[in-house]
Amino acid sequence: MPSFRQSFSVPYTFDLHVTRDCFAPDNDTLVRAMKPSRENGRPVRALVYIDEGTLRQNPKLVQQIHVWFAAHEADGVQLAAAPETVTGGEVLKNDLAIVDKVGRAAFDNGICRHSYVIIIGGGAVLDAVGFGASLVHRGIRQIRLPTTVLAQCDAGLGVKNGVNRFGSKNFYGTFTPPSAIINDARFLESLDARSWRAGISEAVKVAIIKDAAFLDQLAARAELLHARDLPTMEWMIQACATLHLDHITKAGDPFEQGSSRPLDFGHWSAHRLEILSQHRLLHGEAVAIGVAIDSLYALELGRITAEDADRILTILHAVGFRLWDEVLDLRDAAGRRAVLAGLEQFREHLGGELTLAMPAGIGSRSDVHTFDEALFERALARLRRFKPAARNPATP
Ligand SMILES: NC(=O)c1ccc[n+]([C@@H]2O[C@H](COP(=O)([O-])OP(=O)(O)OC[C@H]3O[C@@H](n4cnc5c(N)ncnc54)[C@H](O)[C@@H]3O)[C@@H](O)[C@H]2O)c1
Ligand SMILES: [Zn+2]
Repeated sequence: MPSFRQSFSVPYTFDLHVTRDCFAPDNDTLVRAMKPSRENGRPVRALVYIDEGTLRQNPKLVQQIHVWFAAHEADGVQLAAAPETVTGGEVLKNDLAIVDKVGRAAFDNGICRHSYVIIIGGGAVLDAVGFGASLVHRGIRQIRLPTTVLAQCDAGLGVKNGVNRFGSKNFYGTFTPPSAIINDARFLESLDARSWRAGISEAVKVAIIKDAAFLDQLAARAELLHARDLPTMEWMIQACATLHLDHITKAGDPFEQGSSRPLDFGHWSAHRLEILSQHRLLHGEAVAIGVAIDSLYALELGRITAEDADRILTILHAVGFRLWDEVLDLRDAAGRRAVLAGLEQFREHLGGELTLAMPAGIGSRSDVHTFDEALFERALARLRRFKPAARNPATP
């Protein structure tokens, strides 16, 4: 019998806008992102979701949004309903209720596929509301305003979303490129120390596997990052975002059909550590530990030098991460380290054979397909012993 092969491709274009004070009445970034049509005379409508953590620190935000939309009505943009607040953090991703919350609001307000959902918040809110929005009418347009460091340099930029289910991170999710992302540095000012720091681990991660010069610069600026220097953080976010976006848009597998997942370096254990700690560890904090573990594992494999591994751990320590957590010592009923279940979940999530990104020297990587638990134990023992030298990580 004959086969009839079909093939099509769909181009995607989206902009990352960098601004400050997005909802100042004279700021038109969001108008440009919503692309209202001048021809048909109908306004482009939007539902707005706000992370309650963001709102707590920016209590005037809802009012500013109302004022901003009123000021830009003549530009053809309109609020479809009053902005809604959603619980911030991972807890939102642990409950499917958010899907119906977004769906119900879209239904009640006549949201169509030409309308927008504007999502303002940390990575968890972007992931959970974005997942809900991606299911309504098989996907309504999304504009993301990431409000944490991690979300501005990583989570908010990607083409995927998700919620947690059955004790597995992002078990449900879709690939849905955003219509636009707006990075507004003003939101970073209100972050607490942990959420300020958490995203730095993603920058260290991507530097290790893609850009040796960026790792040098992070080492040189670790103290400024630790001291909450906003221009340094904006620089880091821009550089980290560029590396992530370059990978997503140019590496040839935006919807992750293969098993290779370079941007998930250090994440097989990080995702497990988040779950084992019952989300006491933020994603970025778990990633710092995961990157430290896999860097030491890469040292055991002879892929990076002891000096490089030490420098990576020193940078992470210098910006304030704790690199050991008690959940690393948890064991399952058979006496095996509980974190190792992350390997199996990671393999399953990727499909196909186990594929872990590992540095091959600093600034490049290649995948490995086997995992040696004895080397892992040695890497963990090194991590437990790690004592930062009393020196700047920039000086070798
Ligand atoms: N989709 C992707 O490609 C992708 C990539 C990386 C990470 N992620 C996901 O992102 C999530 C982590 O995101 P995160 O690090 O932004 O943490 P988060 O979303 O859990 O937010 C951390 C805390 O900060 C609060 N917050 C947010 N913005 C604030 C602000 N401006 N001021 C004060 N508080 C604020 C939140 O309410 C929350 O309590 C994880 O669920 C992770 O799986 C997704
Ligand atoms: Zn991550």
